[in-house]
Amino acid sequence: VFHVTHTAPRPLAHLHAALAALEAKGLRRVPPPPLDVDAVSFCSNDYLGLGGRFAPTATTGAGASRLIVERQALVDMEEAFARWLGVEACLAFTSGYAANVGALAALAAPDDLIVSDALNHASLIDGARLSRAHIVIVGHNDVDAVAKVLAERSQRRAWVVVESYYSMDADGPDLARLRHVCDTHDAALYVDEAHALGVLGPEGRGRLAEASVAPDVLVGTLGKAFGGQGAFVAGSRVLREWLWNRARSFVFSTGLAPMAADAARLALDEIIRTPHLREHVSGLTTRLRDGLTALDLRPMGFGHVVPILIGSSERAVMLSAALAEEGLSIPPIRPPTVPEGTSRLRLTVTARHGGADVDTAIDAFRRALERIR
Ligand SMILES: Cc1ncc(COP(=O)(O)O)c(C=O)c1O
Repeated sequence: VFHVTHTAPRPLAHLHAALAALEAKGLRRVPPPPLDVDAVSFCSNDYLGLGGRFAPTATTGAGASRLIVERQALVDMEEAFARWLGVEACLAFTSGYAANVGALAALAAPDDLIVSDALNHASLIDGARLSRAHIVIVGHNDVDAVAKVLAERSQRRAWVVVESYYSMDADGPDLARLRHVCDTHDAALYVDEAHALGVLGPEGRGRLAEASVAPDVLVGTLGKAFGGQGAFVAGSRVLREWLWNRARSFVFSTGLAPMAADAARLALDEIIRTPHLREHVSGLTTRLRDGLTALDLRPMGFGHVVPILIGSSERAVMLSAALAEEGLSIPPIRPPTVPEGTSRLRLTVTARHGGADVDTAIDAFRRALERIR
């Protein structure tokens, strides 16, 4: 429970009222209690269970911006990811948020057009806004709408910005068609693979690799399947050089911790070496999706993120509370995070789970549904 205190300094006193207004709308948020390291969680993005698996030897802090002090661990990590993805170059950022904000704002100019999927992550939205380019938002995964906007544009240069696997809906666009549309209309394709890399596609190389599509800009984060912290932008050498010069979250920020870069490189080695991690997650995903469907629930999309469409916020809250009584903590996802009437519960399968964990979760759902019937 979050207690409003009355110790705010005078210039911040108005925040109490603002928080109370959020509370009144049921929108006030606080972080949950720290997770027991051994607890089985169905809410983690550490999809392959690699978090904490490695003891990197590199130093903790980069000490300065990369343009001032370079670190071998960062260069090694970038080379390893570039090799794995089959691209010319890769550039590390301190987070996926910083990568998207820095790259989009550096690439799109005020007289450019950005075509952005309606469900894009906040970091893509913020990067687009910072660029001051003209932004057109298109329907989720609607490639025809992208083509229409590109065809009718007045701007010379255009950027199509999407995610490859949307974590609220467990779906993604037809990337091959999107590439074709971008080529036809002379636009650049910017793809955020945050939730796909490591897990989906051949050798875990993502949905772009699965579709044999080369984007102009590829973003990955190290905070999800790689179990660490940080991110990268991958693509051509000229892209990297432009970001060295113009991505403000790169230029004006201390480099990614060498320790984090080292941990990510070790995680990548493990992903390359052990395909069974992905196969295990894929098997559990099928087991969970089938089990939930048998309960007449409706898992959305495909893959290791398993959102279940509930509909009304009230029912989502009720089911979440009933699940908590059964020992399963799955917070409800409600508007404004998702559109009105599409409240959902979302589970993520990870390599830390076993078949028995998945069966326990399905059982908890069965009992929780009986409880609220
Ligand atoms: C699609 C997408 N891009 C970027 C990010 C941000 O990455 P990071 O957590 O590394 O800041 C997230 C989630 O955190 C995401 O879901």
